[in-house]
Amino acid sequence: MEKIVILTGAGISAESGLGTFRDAGGIWAQHAVEDVATPEGFTRDPHLVHRFYNARREKAAGVAPNSAHLALARLEHEYSGEVVIVTQNVDALHEGAGSTHIIHMHGALAGALCAACGHRWPAPLKMDTNDPCPACSVPATRPDVVWFGETPYEMEAIWAHLEEADLFAAIGTSGNVYPAAAFAQHAGRAGAHTVELNLEPSTNVRDFAELHHGPAGTIVPLWVDELLRH
Ligand code: OAD
Repeated sequence: MEKIVILTGAGISAESGLGTFRDAGGIWAQHAVEDVATPEGFTRDPHLVHRFYNARREKAAGVAPNSAHLALARLEHEYSGEVVIVTQNVDALHEGAGSTHIIHMHGALAGALCAACGHRWPAPLKMDTNDPCPACSVPATRPDVVWFGETPYEMEAIWAHLEEADLFAAIGTSGNVYPAAAFAQHAGRAGAHTVELNLEPSTNVRDFAELHHGPAGTIVPLWVDELLRH
C-alpha cells in the first residue's frame, strides 16, 4: 500500500474560473497583500478585509470543480493506497469534486472565526467584523483563513504525512509561499518520489524528480490515469 500526498495551489482552480495570486492580473496585482491578508491589515481596516473575502466567497460559490479536481477525487476512490490532499486553497472545489481526505492548511472561505475567543462556525455568504460571535457575543468576526504572519493549520499532521509519503505531487502552485514551498524537498529527503504538475516550472522546480507542465485540467487526469494503471 503506497501513500500519495498531494499539495494543491491556486493553479488547480484557475480553469474553474478562480484567479491565481501571482500570475499577470492575479489577485495580488489587484489588492495589496498587507492590506487584505495580514493580521495588521485586519486591525487597520476590518471592513476592507471582509469586503475582499466576501467577494471571493461569492465568486467561489458560483464555480464548479474542473477535471483536475475530479481526477484527484477519482484517485482517492480508486487507488489501493492512501491519498491525502493538502491544499493552500480556501475554495471548496476538492470537496465539491468528491475528495474526502483534505487538509486546508490556509483555512477556508466557508469558515468564520472569532478573533476574541477562537470559536469557529460556518461562514454566511457575507460577513462583517461587527457580526457577534455565536459563542461569546463579541463582535470580532474574521474569516477562518490563514494570513501572512500566521501559522498554517495542521502543520504537525502535514509534516507526518510528508514523511510517510511514497509519492508527493505539487499541483498548480508557484512555490513562493512557505512552509508549503518546502514540502517537496522535505518529502523527497524522506524518500518520496516527487512530481510537479504546473502550467510552467515553479520557483522550486529543482526539488522535483518528475515534471509535467501544462494546464492542470489536462495534465492531472492523464497523470491520474497513469497512476491507476500501475
Ligand atoms: P500562485 O498564484 O502563487 O501560483 C499559481 C501557480 O499556478 C503558478 O505557478 C501558475 O503558473 C500556475 N497555474 C496557473 N494556471 C494554471 C493551470 N490552469 N494549470 C496549472 N497550473 C496553473 O498561487 P499559490 O502557489 O497557490 O496564501 O499561492 C500560495 C499562497 O499564496 C496562497 O495560498 C495564498 C497566496 O498569497 C495566502 O493568502 C496566505
